[in-house]
Amino acid sequence: MDFLDSIALPQSHEHLVLLKYLLILTFTLFIPYLAILIGSSLFSVFLKRKSIKENNSNYLKIVRDLVNIAAMNKSVVYALGIIPLISAIFCYVQLLQNSSSSVVVLLILSFITFIFGVILFFSYKNSINLKTIFDQVDRSKINFEESETKETFENYRNEASAKFGKTDLWSMIFFLLTALFFVGAVENAANAEKWGSEYSVLSTIFSLRTLSYFLYMIVLSLSVTSITALFFYYKIRTEEKVDVKYLKFVREFSLSKGLIFTILLPIFVLLRILLTPQNALAYNIFMITLVLLISILFIATFLYIMIKDSKANYVTILVVLTVVLFVSSNAKDQAAFSTTSKVHLAKIEADFVKYEEEFKANLGLATVSINGEDIYNGRCIACHQYDRVLVGPAYKNVLPKYENNKEGLIQYILNPVKVDPQFPAMPSQGLKPNEAKAVVEYMLETYKQ
Ligand code: HEC
Repeated sequence: MDFLDSIALPQSHEHLVLLKYLLILTFTLFIPYLAILIGSSLFSVFLKRKSIKENNSNYLKIVRDLVNIAAMNKSVVYALGIIPLISAIFCYVQLLQNSSSSVVVLLILSFITFIFGVILFFSYKNSINLKTIFDQVDRSKINFEESETKETFENYRNEASAKFGKTDLWSMIFFLLTALFFVGAVENAANAEKWGSEYSVLSTIFSLRTLSYFLYMIVLSLSVTSITALFFYYKIRTEEKVDVKYLKFVREFSLSKGLIFTILLPIFVLLRILLTPQNALAYNIFMITLVLLISILFIATFLYIMIKDSKANYVTILVVLTVVLFVSSNAKDQAAFSTTSKVHLAKIEADFVKYEEEFKANLGLATVSINGEDIYNGRCIACHQYDRVLVGPAYKNVLPKYENNKEGLIQYILNPVKVDPQFPAMPSQGLKPNEAKAVVEYMLETYKQ
C-alpha cells in the first residue's frame, strides 16, 4: 500500500529497537484479551445449547458470568483491545515500510472485525443480563396498570430474547475473523520471503502456518478462558456469597475444560515450530519455545492436581504461569520477526542515515564533507597562530620541517608527542584520521607562500 509507505518515516536504529519492544507490549495486552473474548463467545455458543438440552441452568449461568467478565466495561476494550491494535498497526507501518508485505492490511482487517465483534458482544451481554431478569419475573403475578406498560414490557422481553438468540454466534464469528487476520499478520511478519507483492493477503491467510497458528489461538482461548473463570470465582468474587453447588460446578467445569485444552496446546506449538521458515529459525526461538512448553506443562500439572484433590488452591500460580505462557508465546513471534527482518531493518537504518545527512545539508549543516579550514578554525587557532607564539609554537617556526613530510604531520596531530622543552606537550585533539588529513592539507596549502 503506497499510502501507508508515504506516512512511514525513516527510523534510526534506536527507534526500530523501541518499536520492536512496543510491539511485544501491545501483543501482550491484546492477545490475552482477544483470547478471553473468543473463549467466552465460543463457550457461550456451545453451552447455551447444552443448557437447554440437559435442562441445566448452571451452564447458562456460567455463560452469563463469562460474558460479563470479558465485557466488564468499555475502558477495558480501549485499554486492551483498540489502543494496542492501533499501536501495533503504527509499529508495523514503520518497521515494514517499503516491504510490500500484507501485515498492515491484515491488521487493519483485524481491527475492523474486532470493532464489529465488540459491538455485538456488548449487545449480547446486555441481552443476557436482561433475559436473566425477565426470566426471573413471574409475569402472571405482575399487575400491569396500563396495557401500554405491559406492551413495553413484552417488547423489551422479546427484544432481549431475540438478541440473546444469535448475537453471541455473530460476535464469535467476528472475533474468530479478528484472530485469523491477526495471526495472518504475525505469520507474514515472521517470514520475509513472503513480503513480495506476488503473495496476496489471501494466500497468507490460507497458508498452513497461519491456519496452524489460528487453531493454536482457538485452543489457547478455551484454555485461558477456563483459567479466567477459576480466577474470577476463587480470587475476585470471594466475598460475595456464591451458591456452593454452583461453585463446585464452576470448579469442575473450568478445571476439566482447562486441562483438556491445555493438553492440546503442545501439539500446535510443535506443529508451528515445524512450519517455521528456515530464514526465521534461530537459537533464541528454540529457547523461548522451551519456556513456552514448560509453562504449558506446569499449567496442565496444576490443573490435574486440582482436579484430583477437588480443590482450587493453585489458582494464583496458574495465573502467573499463564502470563509466562503469553509472554513467551509473543516473544517467540517477535524473535522470528527480528531474525527474518534483519536485512530489511538494516536497509531502513541506512535510509535513515542518508535522510539525516540530506536533512542537515538542507539546513546548511553539512557533516558529510570534512572541511580542513573549519577544523583548523574550530580547534587549532586557540593555541596557534602563524607568526606569534601562543600556547603552542608559531606555525612559521614548526611547519617548514613538515613541508615534505605530510604523513609525519598527520601522525603528530593524531598522536602528539613531546617535542620542544619550551612548551608543554600538545593535548590530543581527538580528530579522526580523515579529519587530521584535511586539516594538514589545509595548513600546508595556506602557509606555503
Ligand atoms: C591546547 C592548545 C593546543 C591546541 C588546541 C593545538 N595545539 Fe598544537 N601545539 C600545542 C603545544 C603546547 C605544542 C608544543 C608541543 C611540543 O613542542 O612538545 C604544539 C605543537 C604543534 C605543532 C608542532 C609539532 C612539532 O613537531 O613541532 C604542530 C604542527 C601543531 N601543534 C598543530 C596543531 C594543529 C593542526 C592543531 C589543531 C588540530 C593544534 N595543534 C591544536 C598546543 C596546542
